[in-house]
Amino acid sequence: MDTQLLVADFEDWRETVTEAVALLEQGEVVALPTETVYGLAACAFNAEAVAKIFEVKERPSFDPLIVHIGRKSDLKKVAVVPEEIRELVDELIEAHWPGALTLVLPKHEDIPDLVTSGLPTVAVRLSAHEIMCEVAKVHGPIAAPSANRYGRISPTSAQAVMDELGGRIPLIIDGGACRDGLESTIIAPTMTEKGPVLRLLRPGPVSKEDLRLIAKVERVRNKPGATVEAPGQRASHYAPATPLMIVTKPGEFVPEEGKKYGLLTYRGSGGACLIDLTDWTATQTLSPGKGKLSEAAVRLFYCLRQLDAAGLDLIVAEPVANTGVGVAIMDRLKRAAAAHS
Ligand code: TXA
Ligand code: MG
Repeated sequence: MDTQLLVADFEDWRETVTEAVALLEQGEVVALPTETVYGLAACAFNAEAVAKIFEVKERPSFDPLIVHIGRKSDLKKVAVVPEEIRELVDELIEAHWPGALTLVLPKHEDIPDLVTSGLPTVAVRLSAHEIMCEVAKVHGPIAAPSANRYGRISPTSAQAVMDELGGRIPLIIDGGACRDGLESTIIAPTMTEKGPVLRLLRPGPVSKEDLRLIAKVERVRNKPGATVEAPGQRASHYAPATPLMIVTKPGEFVPEEGKKYGLLTYRGSGGACLIDLTDWTATQTLSPGKGKLSEAAVRLFYCLRQLDAAGLDLIVAEPVANTGVGVAIMDRLKRAAAAHS
């Protein structure tokens, strides 16, 4: 199959929306930009179209998808908000939609089980990217996981989608580089005896600090062997093919003769920087100079892809501060490190 790449220019981006909607209406899958990472979209109510997402991504059907809506009032088409958390959900939506926050809520019966992998809940978000938002508004709700093959790094540019899925899908809309660069924060809003609690299933651009302004936050971690609440929490996600090791102090890494090492550095220079540790075959800097976590988040997957393509034996990654979006960056780095251990 030929994969068409349509660039959404300033003036004619609406035409790309029309193209995408036409294909979605035919039951096709298309890759669309969002502010977090590129998504692979299909009509959320069409199980056959959704099945194509799993096929194209080689994704196991027990891993549920995120449903994107184009307007807040469409939430009722895909989810049923229980009365006891209605106020909480309204507050979350008011503060963070459109944006990088995904809510896990009881699903509407019209959503096929394939979308939710048989779970009684559905993950929903309203993207802040004008193209994703407009497509979901014109077409109606669409299921869209990240547009990568299963277990690989999420794409943050149209070229990265082409590298992942070229030849497998009819259309990629190029809406430029993703503004956030990391997958959305996923939470399940709940009511407990002690009041509202946000169960954090996946850290992302909307930080714990942001969420705490609304309610108590509880990080949910998958225990080995336990039922997986957000399968995207598995270590094998977000991993480059090259082994990766997080090195906090220089002594933790001893280079061996004849091996090729790559460095993923936070700032590229300064105190904790490992740049002088060995003769790196390749280096990528997340945020040169003083270091900004938001810039590091935007560049993380791009830098990992570059290092992964450099034929290395090992990627050495410096840690970043575990605050704000740094929590999500460290989460992805730890998964990448665990995937090969
Ligand atoms: O930023 C994002 O969220 C991107 C863009 C494209 O929207 N999407 C994305 O989708 O990262 P995906 O499928 O790669 O990751 C979605 C995660 C999966 O790990 C899945 O397990 C979890 O959301 N998820 C989906 N439905 C769920 C549910 N009902 N309960 C718990 N977790 C769920
Ligand atoms: Mg994904």
